Amino acid sequence: MSTSPLTIGTFGHGCVGQGFLELLNANGGTAAQVKHVCVKDRQRTRDVGTARLTYEALDILTDEQVSTIVELTNDADLALDVIRKALLTGRNAITASKKVVAENLAELIALQRSTGRSLLYEASCAASIPVLHALETHFSGERVERIEGILNGTTNYILTRMEEGASPEDALRQAQEQGFAETDPTADLRGDDARYKLTILMAHAFGTVVEPKRIFRCGIRQLHQQDMDHAASIGCVVRVVASAQLVNGKVTARVLPTFVPRNNAFAQVRHEYNAVRITGRHSGEHLLQGKGAGRLPTGLAVLSDVQRLVRGGGYAYAKVSKDAPVLSDSQERLSIYLRLPETHQEAIQHFDQLHSIEAGDGHIRITGTIALAELAELLGQGRDGFQVIALPHL
Ligand SMILES: NC(=O)c1ccc[n+]([C@@H]2O[C@H](COP(=O)([O-])OP(=O)(O)OC[C@H]3O[C@@H](n4cnc5c(N)ncnc54)[C@H](OP(=O)(O)O)[C@@H]3O)[C@@H](O)[C@H]2O)c1
Repeated sequence: MSTSPLTIGTFGHGCVGQGFLELLNANGGTAAQVKHVCVKDRQRTRDVGTARLTYEALDILTDEQVSTIVELTNDADLALDVIRKALLTGRNAITASKKVVAENLAELIALQRSTGRSLLYEASCAASIPVLHALETHFSGERVERIEGILNGTTNYILTRMEEGASPEDALRQAQEQGFAETDPTADLRGDDARYKLTILMAHAFGTVVEPKRIFRCGIRQLHQQDMDHAASIGCVVRVVASAQLVNGKVTARVLPTFVPRNNAFAQVRHEYNAVRITGRHSGEHLLQGKGAGRLPTGLAVLSDVQRLVRGGGYAYAKVSKDAPVLSDSQERLSIYLRLPETHQEAIQHFDQLHSIEAGDGHIRITGTIALAELAELLGQGRDGFQVIALPHL
């Protein structure tokens, strides 16, 4: 086991970058030091301690002493570029970017295998919950049958603040003020962020590597107080649940707002907290819970990756092989609630079974079963005012 000190070059000194540096400096036992911090804005003054501030990526990528780059920017193009260059020049890399990892996972795994270097990204999935570590170690010899989670801190914060009486707009503003919602929250609200994380989890849980866009996702952009009232009337709360499971040797996966019964553990996951439930064939259910966003919780996940590299570790991707289960393209059927403007009654025809229809306040609320492909078509037509919520299954 290697114990040589790591010399690190960091990209980004925002929310996560500052949290990481603060924890590294406070943690005298970590055999690692940050030599450079690369940022973009030359006007801003900042405290990077003993590290050198730079605005040039090449200052890090050409420094022979730097053995590890830590990528914590919000610039996906820069992130992918510096990760590739780091691996190709014999360095290890750490990133917090789920978008970059999820959208380029096949390439990044191949690059690690061909260069013998490691890319770690614990912070990218549910921040402070060590779920990738758990999948790579404890569950590497287990057949994971199902993984599901509340993976987006912003939407969970909005949903739970709405339960407490806040408007969606106020809840989003508070999440942004506290540093766990991006300035542009579109990826959170559309379900893209949770889909990136699910894509990454699927690779480590099942060995299944897919493009994120192949996974069906729906967010809470159109969520209305009426939907929350409906949830309360059936003894539920709403949570955005990302789930993937093995069915007949293939993986089904989706991200959907879901009615969760109040007595289910996911209903107790509030604010910026995330949770992941892993079901193994031999070991049954496990529930991991922790903060899914924020400066120090996310900084801690980055520090834990640094410590892993100090010990000489990387991901084994033991389940990623040509025999790994593929994503199912079967005609899955979902039980859902759909609220839509009454001007779009034709949507009813897309259901194959109707359980209830209610109208009022200019909206129709339908419950019934629908084929996933029909639902995707219905939502893919750019219509406003459609909110889907999966009926309880948890
Ligand atoms: N915030 C969270 O709770 C959280 C949780 C999990 C994962 N993440 C992920 O962590 C990453 C960082 O998020 P954050 O919230 O820390 O973002 P942030 O607060 O907006 O900070 C972004 C940092 O990136 C720097 N940057 C942007 N473009 C750059 C460029 N071209 N060259 C050098 N530096 C550049 C910025 O520099 P300036 O300071 O000069 O503007 C800033 O320091 C993202 O991938 C995010 O998805 C965040």
